[in-house]
Amino acid sequence: MEPSSGATVTTVKGYACQRRTPLQHHNTLLTDALLVLAENAEFCENEGRSVAFRRAGSVLKALPQAVRKMEDLQGLPCLGGHSQRVIKEILEDGKSREVEMMLQSKQYQAMKALTSIFGVGVKTAERWFREGLQRHTDVVNSGYKLNHTQQAGVQYYDDLNTPVTKAEADAIGQIVEEAVQAVLPGAEITLTGGFRRDKLTGHDVDFLITHPEEGKEEGLMPKVVSWLEARGLLLYQKTNTNSYLESTDGPARPSHNMDRFERCFSIFRLERPHARPEQHPQATCEEQPQDDDSARERRASQSPGWKAVRVDLVVTPVSQFAFALLGWTGSQLFERDLRRWAGQEKHMSLSSHALYDSKQNRYLRASSEEEIFAHLGLEFIPPAERNA
Ligand code: GTP
Ligand code: MN
Ligand code: MN
Repeated sequence: MEPSSGATVTTVKGYACQRRTPLQHHNTLLTDALLVLAENAEFCENEGRSVAFRRAGSVLKALPQAVRKMEDLQGLPCLGGHSQRVIKEILEDGKSREVEMMLQSKQYQAMKALTSIFGVGVKTAERWFREGLQRHTDVVNSGYKLNHTQQAGVQYYDDLNTPVTKAEADAIGQIVEEAVQAVLPGAEITLTGGFRRDKLTGHDVDFLITHPEEGKEEGLMPKVVSWLEARGLLLYQKTNTNSYLESTDGPARPSHNMDRFERCFSIFRLERPHARPEQHPQATCEEQPQDDDSARERRASQSPGWKAVRVDLVVTPVSQFAFALLGWTGSQLFERDLRRWAGQEKHMSLSSHALYDSKQNRYLRASSEEEIFAHLGLEFIPPAERNA
């Protein structure tokens, strides 16, 4: 029975991969504040601190109700002193002075703006800020030499910082499907990343590509890229055949865990859907349908006729597909905790390619995500509840 005056005691497990975290939750005021602190720590290159704030926020996302008083936090994991202080302030005053000041600070604002340029990481943004740059337009005007990726980043800045909708993701999916079928009939594409977690918008669209017959997928990426380029559908692409990304896998990953998929970071040129005639049945050629100011402004401020959309493509052998799917669905914190759980609790090593059991000295096979959760001794969490 629930105590009538005391705190609502909720138990929350310590690893994000042990919890169900829906997209919608009850503590956005608190989690938004903690996210600012996490971002700021990232801007200061303090990853440990950043992850600590993200973990605290993630625990609050998993709560079945809004936190109303500090006693509601009793027994919850991952809430450090600093996070608790900020939560307390917000519960009492509706906002945190520290977070408000951070949001107002020149440095935070500049770092946020500069790192939102595709191809610009914290180190570059930091240097540019010290040299007096604050916005992406300052970068354009600085005359600094930009690499290929950063050039695309500033050129398509507005589009790339406009959230991608599910409808746009589906439209990209149709194009990728057509490209893949044209170069390797029978190959299969799967939408992954945030959209697989049922997010309504994303910063990009992520796809896995595989073929039911092992080995058939080899060398597929360059062909897909050529097909797309020949049709003018790519504004930018960078293909890695043997990639290892420190940012997500961490510098200490053992070599057998390296991410070696063929992958392509790209920017698609997505045609905007034309005004639908069926919505204006009386409109003729002379008589343009009336539109409101905001629609006109929107069109004027955007590149005409098309939108630049970030797309990640990953080719995987079918034997590794389940691991790749689990590894690319996210969220990032969910993935981080899956690997931590595997290592610390199970003496196993999980990557987007495989699961290695150090006690048995062997790889554990899996052809579905469910099997991987079972190997790890975890209850299966469906993608929509991995929004940690
Ligand atoms: P939005 O794109 O912002 O909507 O969120 P998202 O969750 O889709 O993020 P993102 O596209 O950045 O990444 C999707 C998932 O792929 C995340 O869980 C990442 O951890 C994972 N991921 C991203 N890059 C890599 C990589 O280089 N290697 C591996 N193995 N996983 C990656
Ligand atoms: Mn994504
Ligand atoms: Mn991505």
